[in-house]
Amino acid sequence: MQLNAPLDMHLHLRDGEMLENIAKTSAHTFSGAIIMPNLVPPVTTKEAVVAYKDRIIKAIGDEKFTPYMTLFFNPSYDKTFLSSVRDEITAIKLYPAGITTNSEGGVSGFDVEELRPALEAMSELNIPLCVHGETNGFVMDREAEFASIYERLATAFPKLTIIMEHITTKTSVDLLDRFENLYATITIHHLLITLDDVAGGMLKPHLFCKPIAKRPEDRDALLKVALEAHPKVMFGSDSAPHPQHAKESCGCAAGVFTAPIALQLLAELFDTHGSSVEKLQAFVSGNAQTIYGVTPLNKTITLEKKPFKVPSNYKGVVPIYADEEIAYSITNVSI
Ligand code: DOR
Ligand code: ZN
Repeated sequence: MQLNAPLDMHLHLRDGEMLENIAKTSAHTFSGAIIMPNLVPPVTTKEAVVAYKDRIIKAIGDEKFTPYMTLFFNPSYDKTFLSSVRDEITAIKLYPAGITTNSEGGVSGFDVEELRPALEAMSELNIPLCVHGETNGFVMDREAEFASIYERLATAFPKLTIIMEHITTKTSVDLLDRFENLYATITIHHLLITLDDVAGGMLKPHLFCKPIAKRPEDRDALLKVALEAHPKVMFGSDSAPHPQHAKESCGCAAGVFTAPIALQLLAELFDTHGSSVEKLQAFVSGNAQTIYGVTPLNKTITLEKKPFKVPSNYKGVVPIYADEEIAYSITNVSI
């Protein structure tokens, strides 16, 4: 099968040595990706976003790949600032304070009036808002509890494009058809695993992420909209590399590293469930192009049903399914 211009609409590329080590694993097979801003310190200024983009371009070397840049949301952003940075960014990412890796500077309270100036300016400038939708409640309920905040934001800012990032629950899937301006990204790992795979047997640190994988019925709801390429969902890997020692430790960092095998796993998933290449093409590129209004670089990925042994690590980062065999291989990438 062939996929054209795959896009990863939620990606962590990190910075420094990690960026240099892993950037090409996405840049080789994807045409572009939405780059998360949760660096230390987070990306909050025009200078920081431009400089980060330059470091990414340097790290990907000869690969043809567009980093779609984001800012870390702050309620103090005003129209003057947002207008000045508009051409450098594709979206702005909102994190609830302290909810995940490097999100301490995020939002607390979700008071609509406090958020209004920034979100209205984004709406006017047509800047999508990407949201990590979890409360600080009980871990399995965090995303479902956030649904009322999504409803509040979608209603208060009807012209703002709001992307519910890495959804993991049926509750979030159900919101898609209720609010015109709500969209979602879905990861490959949340289409494949449930909490049972993470903690039902021996604890699997490389499957631990935020939001945590949920119940089978939640995964089924995600699978349904992904496999039919529901026009409001798009692929976003949330591939989140951490050094092996940070995952295999008594305080395991959250994040699943999927970037190098995401397309192979998607091909296998759509094949196993009898979905078509056209649907996969829409899920990994077409829907995102429509939702974000982006036109990606041409890149054609050929995938064949041929076993691929997943490496045990990529420069010190352990991928999902390390040392295991998966059914599809990438046999060619052409530009
Ligand atoms: O598991 C996660 N890892 N979830 C996030 O939201 C952040 C990410 C990271 O940056 O490591
Ligand atoms: Zn993320």
